[in-house]
Amino acid sequence: MLLKIAVILGTRPEIIKMAPVIRELEIREADFLILHTGQHYSYNLDGVFFDQLKLPQVKYNVEAGSGSHAEQTAKILVGVEKVLREENPDIVLVEGDTNSVLASALTATKLHIKVGHVEAGLRSYDRNMPEEINRTLTDHCSDYLFAPTEKAKAILLGEAIPKKKIFVTGNTIVDAVYQNLKIARERDNTLDTLHVNPGEYLLVTLHRQENVDNRARFASILEGLDKLAAEFDLPIIYPIHPHSRKRLGEFNLKAPKLTLIEPIDFFGFLQLESNARLILTDSGGVQEEACILSVPCVTLRDNTERPETIEVGANILAGTSSGNIFECTRRMLGRKNDWQNPFGDGKAGEKIVSIITGGFDD
Ligand code: UD1
Ligand code: UDP
Repeated sequence: MLLKIAVILGTRPEIIKMAPVIRELEIREADFLILHTGQHYSYNLDGVFFDQLKLPQVKYNVEAGSGSHAEQTAKILVGVEKVLREENPDIVLVEGDTNSVLASALTATKLHIKVGHVEAGLRSYDRNMPEEINRTLTDHCSDYLFAPTEKAKAILLGEAIPKKKIFVTGNTIVDAVYQNLKIARERDNTLDTLHVNPGEYLLVTLHRQENVDNRARFASILEGLDKLAAEFDLPIIYPIHPHSRKRLGEFNLKAPKLTLIEPIDFFGFLQLESNARLILTDSGGVQEEACILSVPCVTLRDNTERPETIEVGANILAGTSSGNIFECTRRMLGRKNDWQNPFGDGKAGEKIVSIITGGFDD
């Protein structure tokens, strides 16, 4: 019997990281549909990635939108349940750690639909992060856990998740980078538009709730970045997430030395990342991409669920104090970029689809 698959996604990183899985489902002419939760809806966080990555049309969008955690999660639970009852898929695939992921996995499992969690087994051990709650609970209600690394698998085994449910596949972000970097290099002119030269600027992203919703932390990071721009005499490009833009205004914070731009498309962002002298970020996906692209990374957090990047020497935790940001940047600028990418061979999408289509026999 042909398996019916519902791919559920809702935010920028889910679209980018699920794209290689969707591509593989298309190649194999699988019976699948895409369900969008509507958590992200602005064109530059959502539609642009469907257009650029040539993804098939979304069959349903439950339009949950923004709100408090409870409001957003509740809307996704209700909306996704309605669609899953109507479509009755054999398996639901979710990716990552957003509210969309937890709500969709929970809905599916209560309907006795199998759940496959792409990027399972990541832990920051910081329960102040909404993502830590989301990823942990999602792992514990999933039937297929696609761990990107052996380390992630070991974490899952340590939480008593049965071995037979866990598959080490690599991270689909490697597939996404390998599939799109060449096209990005050929087609994109973001560096020209921003008047920066390869290797002569720093790139920043910053949007985590625990950083930008806290005035003191946000201000301290901005102060650190301003100091970097002055001391190293390098332009700093910051494609600012709307969440952070909103808080910047509400807190009346300024970052006079940073070049703030709107969030950009994936090709433009890959170009900016791969040519940056160094990247500073609190994003999960950007830590991985910096590591894959051999660009040193300074993480603006006290912990990371991507410890592999630190172990290979590609990343350092700076926290949020301006002095530490400066010192960690100085150290990373002096480091050799000769590490190996620990996140797989770029075939995670293929492996995941093989596992669910070959191994699903229940
Ligand atoms: C969410 C995820 C986070 C992920 C990020 C990816 C949760 C708890 N957080 O954070 O893990 O790293 O997506 O980018 O799931 N907004 C817009 N347009 C949009 C969407 C949001 O302007 O299309 C603004 C709204 O003001 C909204 C705010 O951003 O209130 C926050 O959006 P939300 O979806 O709650 O969380 P993100 O910060 O995007
Ligand atoms: N990204 C992008 N444009 C931008 C900023 C980020 O295309 O202006 C991509 C980036 O390449 C990565 C993903 O968005 O693949 C990361 O998403 P985000 O930082 O929002 O979420 P996280 O990974 O922290 O959950």
